[in-house]
Amino acid sequence: MQNIVIDQSIEESIKEALKQNNATLVAHYYVSADLQTLAEETGGIVSDSLEMARFGQNSDAGTIIVAGVKFMGETAKILSPEKRVLVLDEKATCSLDLSCPIKEFSEFCDLNPDHEVVVYANTSAEVKARADWVVTSGSALKVVQKLHSEGKKVLWAPDKHLGHYVQSMTGVEMLMWDGACIVHEEFKAEGLKRLMELHPEAGILVHPESPKEVIALADVVGSTTQLINAVSSRPETTFIVATDNGIFHKMKEIAPQKKLIEAPTMGEGADCESCAHCNWMAMNSLEKCLETLNTGQNEILIDSEVIDRAKHSIQRLLDFTK
Ligand code: 13P
Ligand code: SF4
Repeated sequence: MQNIVIDQSIEESIKEALKQNNATLVAHYYVSADLQTLAEETGGIVSDSLEMARFGQNSDAGTIIVAGVKFMGETAKILSPEKRVLVLDEKATCSLDLSCPIKEFSEFCDLNPDHEVVVYANTSAEVKARADWVVTSGSALKVVQKLHSEGKKVLWAPDKHLGHYVQSMTGVEMLMWDGACIVHEEFKAEGLKRLMELHPEAGILVHPESPKEVIALADVVGSTTQLINAVSSRPETTFIVATDNGIFHKMKEIAPQKKLIEAPTMGEGADCESCAHCNWMAMNSLEKCLETLNTGQNEILIDSEVIDRAKHSIQRLLDFTK
């Protein structure tokens, strides 16, 4: 009699490989729904970049698998240098990180020694090591408010949109790097206004990497976690959402009764109304997750001196936001 071999699903294979490698899966809200589900089912986490960093550090696992982009893997390694950190695709990066090379950034800092250097988490390990503070979208406002109240001036990098938002909310004196997120920069205020006329009842949720004209229309401006929380806590039953559309998976899960509409990214004549999805986040997949676990490929390695300096500026943030 012939034996029937039933193939394990890829999810089951990953679950087994995670156990065998004493590994945990840490995923961002922008990666595919199947990876997000798997991270939660296996005791890992799906979160914004701040909580991804914190979770990796507090986990007992010896290996952290990061489903996100390179800077998220580097942050995990900086906070847990004794652990092995693997990313699913080492080419998955971020336009903000790419916009801020360490040599030019360091020269900018040297020219302005009287400014407190505050960098967004979406930067390289070397840029973080040059900073006094690392912040995320969910913490930038509070950190800069504190620095402003101490009479400090801020050198900000790399996201000019988030920088302008923080500057306008705090009134701090700020020197700004000229970087942007290629996904959020595409949101269009005119298109959003037209959509708001069609849905006057809708709450408007905007990630602060968006242009200031779009932020000006928002009811809530916040990190991915803050926007998700707004969907469940606010009274509106319809929301227009200006951030990467990977976030809709979690929003639908926690508030299935609410109506969610993607904010427009394209002007007249475009062939899609909203194209808001990060190509680098989209490079993460279940197949790459299994391959990474089986081969140990794409390990994040950072010079120990860089780790020591960068850890100081990230740890400060984690302590401040505890
Ligand atoms: P969050 O910190 O809000 O998750 O954002 C990370 C990011 O890359 C947004 O584009
Ligand atoms: Fe970077 Fe923008 Fe992609 Fe976030 S969505 S990882 S900021 S390019």
